[in-house]
Amino acid sequence: MNANELRQKYIEFFKSKGHALIQGKSLLPDNDPTVLFTTAGMHPLVPYLLGEEHPAGKRLVDVQKCIRTGDIDSVGDFSHLTFFEMLGNWSLGDYFKDEAIRMSYEFLTSPEWLGIPHESLGVTVFAGETNDSAVIPPDDESADVWRKLGFREERISYRPRADNWWGPAGETGPCGPDSEMFIDMGHEPCGPDCAPGCGCGKWLEIWNDVFMQFNKDALGKYIPLDRKCVDTGMGVERTVTILSGKKSVYETDIFVPIISAIEKASGYKYGSGEELNRSVRIIADHIRASTFILGDPKAVTPSNAGAGYVLRRLIRRAVRHARKLGGTGRFLSGLAGVVIEEFSAPYPELLENRAFILEELNKEEDRFGETLQKGEKEFEKLLPNLLKDPKKVMSGRLAFKLYDTYGFPIELTEELARESGLSVNRAEFDEAYKKHQELSRAGGEQVFKGGLVDNSEITTKYHTATHLLQRALQIVLGPHITQKGSNITAERMRFDFSHPAPMTAGEIAQVEAVVNEQIKRDLPVSMTVMSLEDAKAAGAMALFGEKYEAEVKVYTIGDEASGGVFSREVCGGPHVERTGAIGGFKIEKEQSSSQGVRRIRAVCKGVKDVRL
Ligand code: ALA
Repeated sequence: MNANELRQKYIEFFKSKGHALIQGKSLLPDNDPTVLFTTAGMHPLVPYLLGEEHPAGKRLVDVQKCIRTGDIDSVGDFSHLTFFEMLGNWSLGDYFKDEAIRMSYEFLTSPEWLGIPHESLGVTVFAGETNDSAVIPPDDESADVWRKLGFREERISYRPRADNWWGPAGETGPCGPDSEMFIDMGHEPCGPDCAPGCGCGKWLEIWNDVFMQFNKDALGKYIPLDRKCVDTGMGVERTVTILSGKKSVYETDIFVPIISAIEKASGYKYGSGEELNRSVRIIADHIRASTFILGDPKAVTPSNAGAGYVLRRLIRRAVRHARKLGGTGRFLSGLAGVVIEEFSAPYPELLENRAFILEELNKEEDRFGETLQKGEKEFEKLLPNLLKDPKKVMSGRLAFKLYDTYGFPIELTEELARESGLSVNRAEFDEAYKKHQELSRAGGEQVFKGGLVDNSEITTKYHTATHLLQRALQIVLGPHITQKGSNITAERMRFDFSHPAPMTAGEIAQVEAVVNEQIKRDLPVSMTVMSLEDAKAAGAMALFGEKYEAEVKVYTIGDEASGGVFSREVCGGPHVERTGAIGGFKIEKEQSSSQGVRRIRAVCKGVKDVRL
């Protein structure tokens, strides 16, 4: 089974069970301050898991591209990936545990679908717990369904939160117990306690059915959801590996063409030595992730902050490993060409953005080449003094200076030091680096690990304020204004938009006045579901580059009775019912974001006061 077949079968199966196929969304989430990337299939669906109606209905199926960089340092082994695709089926207040599990079982075992023998499967369910805000019983309900499907007790393992609870990955959001499905690889058990879910390698996870029953709020309380949902996740790469009987994802049709291209470009034969094989795997993973990030319609470019920083890190790490293999020059863009060719059928955006992807990779590789040259020169200058040290240790402070001033990677400093018989005080470097990170990257490390949208009352107000702001900018600056991104926390909003010049103080004051005027008018906010075509015909703004379903939700601010429509946008919501709830609006800063893109930082005055 290859990746295309798996995607197709999954979609076909769930369509036959009354699910509507929805578009996978961008890798770069809007309106979510807690993550840089979409980290799971559920990410774009959070508002719907929390109660919003989805225009495509209550049963959905999708394929979502995801990036997780939380354990980027493990990439290079046989299973960790930074980019992956997740298959998901969704019940938004429709079916729950019984039907979800029965459908999973049918898809896994029926000869018409994956045809995995019943005897090869094992499952886990949540063991229950008592915490500060809830007593959550063991998930006997799920276990009973598995029992009815013929699973013996030793194939049903009750496990704690660390294993069988999903979400919220951030501070707040939908969450609940899950039931995971595993394939028995046929090895001997590692001990008497070895059961499905054991990490010894005997049991490999293939699918996860999450039963969203709670919303964890900002105070840490688990509030039962009125409308229970199901979120499932099946990783394409892992499933293809298992189903094709391969030991590693790098042996599957997903990676073989990329690895062949690396071999061709470097002259290194994969399989010749473990250390360099690892480099090949790192390059293969990182070039796939970088190509998808650059190919996303909401393109990011390499930079020193946020998603651009992750991209830079992926590209530069790939280049470093390419050099180890003997690769020179512009190594990566040729590989990206292979990734684009392989994945452009399910992801046409890669082909559409081909020129941009290759150009950005080349530019970043050139820049990094200069950095390396400068850093090496500097190191050589320092060397005579370093060699005088009787302990032959280079201070972490000095290594950090090379990093900070020239962008010279610590691993390379260590490598050069080693070649001259020196070591580097890594602890001291790490400390300096950490301090620098804290200062320079707002949000810190947690943004790499993933989180979920905060749907509190306050962020809902900010969300509606974003619509008012976009329209006000169009009124004051002109119709060329389009949204380029937005980011909301409980403390402020940030809004990026296309505009060629800084705003004047007068323009800023005007925009503020227009927004505040609409807040004062206490306009009603209403939602209708319509076809994307009708939405556009009705003048609704939509995010450029985002993929939408055939049927979309349109939020309208203002109506005939209140003196006319002020704004109309295609949006998933949620929004406040009337604009008066926003309280007031103030622009704190207007600055450049990137070429031709301005960034506004604003607060909703008075909003903080109502925070619980
Ligand atoms: N959201 C669940 C996961 O990512 C399905 O595993």
